[in-house]
Amino acid sequence: MNEISYLRVSVTDKCNLKCFYCRPDNSEFVPHEEILRYEEIARLVRAMTRYGLRKVRITGGEPLVRPQLEELVRMLKEIPQINDVSLTTNAITLAKHAEKLREAGLDRLNISIDSLKPDLFFQITKGRLEDVLEGIRVSKKLGFDPIKVNAVIVKGLNEDEALDFVEFGAEYGVEVRFIEMMPIGGEQINWSEEKVKPLDEIKRKIEEEYGKLIPAISIGSGAARVYKIEKLGSKIGFITPISNPFCDGCSKLRLTAEGHIKLCLRTDEELDAKPVIRYGSDEELDSFIRKVLIEKEISNQKIVKSGYAFSDCRRIMTSIGG
Ligand code: 5AD
Repeated sequence: MNEISYLRVSVTDKCNLKCFYCRPDNSEFVPHEEILRYEEIARLVRAMTRYGLRKVRITGGEPLVRPQLEELVRMLKEIPQINDVSLTTNAITLAKHAEKLREAGLDRLNISIDSLKPDLFFQITKGRLEDVLEGIRVSKKLGFDPIKVNAVIVKGLNEDEALDFVEFGAEYGVEVRFIEMMPIGGEQINWSEEKVKPLDEIKRKIEEEYGKLIPAISIGSGAARVYKIEKLGSKIGFITPISNPFCDGCSKLRLTAEGHIKLCLRTDEELDAKPVIRYGSDEELDSFIRKVLIEKEISNQKIVKSGYAFSDCRRIMTSIGG
């Protein structure tokens, strides 16, 4: 790999929800002084543009729990090469924050909703679905487009809601993306293969109801297979890390809140970027980034060659940001 196309930046590992597959009860937070400052994140992003970086996604934890997030958006948008700044949020407090994010230049939103039933939503997340829906309505009015909704489908939990999600997507004018649950967070998270709903089954069910899905394109990192539903005039996507992995050619990188570059969601391989961002010269930062590119390539090849035989990320999702 000699280019970076896409960086996900986690700005905090704190979250105002408690989704069972993401954050175990006893999780500890990174101390404040260990967290990268916005200027430090912007310095790294600026340096990475020399290696092709154009798109940045802000994640958490829940990114909106970090104060003045719009300042980071503004800093990133001021970097001329960066043409797409997006945010992944649970949208619990989005209604309150959407306008200043829009003003700061935020381009796009991804919102997580795992159930459209208020009771089940609460059971999964310990939050209120209505707050999220209000966040979507406000963001639509402000002109955010596209808005994507991520739904992690878990067998026996929300798999029966697939068609409801499709209807919801058409009604709200959002692009719903179904995601297979990944084993992230080691033993702390109760993952098992039986919980994974292979998304072809969902796709078939949708086609039975609405007719053949038409392959389509969508702006983003390319992880989703996106389709148009002609009958409804809406788009949906499938992210299938388990049943149909898409690692070959992946050039996605992740920056954790404490400044580690995480090479892949499947492994715990990380490089600590904080010292060089905080104290290094521009040349040192540049050579660090070249090292990241080499390590990412090696890590990818290892995963693809093994036939995706392993997936052993022990770091919990709330400290990665998806
Ligand atoms: N597997 C798949 N997706 C996950 N997410 C969080 N944990 C997992 C997991 N174990 C999703 C969230 C959110 C996005 C950032 O990642 O639902 O939409």
